[in-house]
This record gives sequence, structure tokens and C-alpha cells, in this order.
Amino acid sequence: PQAQPLKGRRVLITAGPTLEPIDPVRYIANRSSGKQGFAIAAAAQAAGAEVALISGPVDLDDPAGVTVEHVESAREMLAAVEAALPTDIAIFSAAVADWRVAHEGAQKLKKTAAGIPPLQLTENPDILATISNLRDKRPPLVIGFAAETEHLIENAKAKFARKGCDWIVANDVSPGTGVMGGDRNTVHLLTRGEGGEIKTESFAVMTKEEVAAMLIERIVSTMTDSSK
Ligand code: C5P
Repeated sequence: PQAQPLKGRRVLITAGPTLEPIDPVRYIANRSSGKQGFAIAAAAQAAGAEVALISGPVDLDDPAGVTVEHVESAREMLAAVEAALPTDIAIFSAAVADWRVAHEGAQKLKKTAAGIPPLQLTENPDILATISNLRDKRPPLVIGFAAETEHLIENAKAKFARKGCDWIVANDVSPGTGVMGGDRNTVHLLTRGEGGEIKTESFAVMTKEEVAAMLIERIVSTMTDSSK
């Protein structure tokens, strides 16, 4: 029989983009495909975990054996995440929109003589930071992603401090890399040493499935270490 090192563990994963409505027919979104998060969900399920995958709109089949909740906006994603707690592990790979339109149109915005409508934006909740800072239901292992187009490690380190998560998977998503929507990823894993110092480990280019397997392997070894 296959080894099931995460048997009995609950894992929550966010994936995909969020979609922020402008009016009933228009929205703001981003180029996230959800592939990395879905690969992590499948790998966690294969390792025996009970997996809750909360995904924005994507063009992917639900992974077998995984409980999938489909949401659209960041606010819906946060509500679904909160409802899925408590879990042992939470992995936030979704590309959550930082902003949404402050006043969503109840009807389709029309061209008028008044000119081009200004789109006023407002900040979305930061799901990763919210969950990392929970007092009661904070999962013991919270993992964030840092997708950057420049100064990758520097930005990822700053994010580490700001979000309050335990690990960060940093990846370069600048246009030449093909990471957004593609099948491969080059990642760096940021963790903390005994003294709280940030440790960075860099990996060669891998498929998103290989990245998922690596991450699950790391999770399994951390959990085994800490239960000794
Ligand atoms: O700040 P930034 O969006 O670059 O941070 C990336 C990390 O934070 C990812 O793990 C992402 O899923 C998470 N995030 C979130 N909610 C937001 C923004 C980002 O959970 N509103």
C-alpha cells in the first residue's frame, strides 16, 4: 500500500485568481491558472491528507478525492477559508486581487455624455495575513506564496515579515518565465532557522507537480520532526 504520511491531517489550500466585479457583466481578474495550487492539492491528497481546496475561477478539473469550493471574489475566498478552519496546514497559493472596485455597479455601466467612468478601487482583505494572525484557529503551519516580477528574494523576505506566515514559496512570474499559466515553476523556499533568521533554499526549474511533491515532502518531514 502507498505510504500515507499525512493521514489524519487536514490541509487547506487556496488557488487560482480572484474575480472582482465592476458591474453585472464586467470584472477585474489576473492571469493565475490555478495549476500550482491544484497540483499541491492533488499531492496532499495522495499523501493521505483530508484536503479542502478553495479556488477562484479556473479552467481545471477538480482533483479526485479533494473537497473543492469554487468562489469568485477575495471576500468570498476569505469566508470559505474561515469556514474550512481548523486545519493542520494552510497553503495560500491563490493570486488574490489586491484591490476591488469600491462601488460595484448594480446595472451595466453605460457610455454617457458625462465621459469615462472613474473606477475607484478599495483594498481587499489579505487572506494569508488574516489567517496567520488568528489567535484561536491559526493553523500550526501556514505557507504563503510570493509571486514577483523583480527583486524576488528581497520582496519575498519583506513579505515574510509582513504576513506572519511560517514559510514562503517565492517564484518569479515575470513574462519571460512562462510561470503564469505554464506547467513549470522555479521556486525558492523561505523558512526560519532556530534563531528566527530567514533561510532561503533555491531549486532548479521543476514541473508544478514536482514543486508540489517537494513541498509536501518538506511538510511531512517537519511534521515528523515536531512530533518526535
Ligand atoms: O502581497 P502578495 O499578494 O504578494 O502576497 C502573496 C501571498 O499572500 C500569497 O500567498 C497569496 O495567496 C496571499 N494573499 C492573500 N490575500 C490577499 C493577497 C495575497 O491571501 N489579499
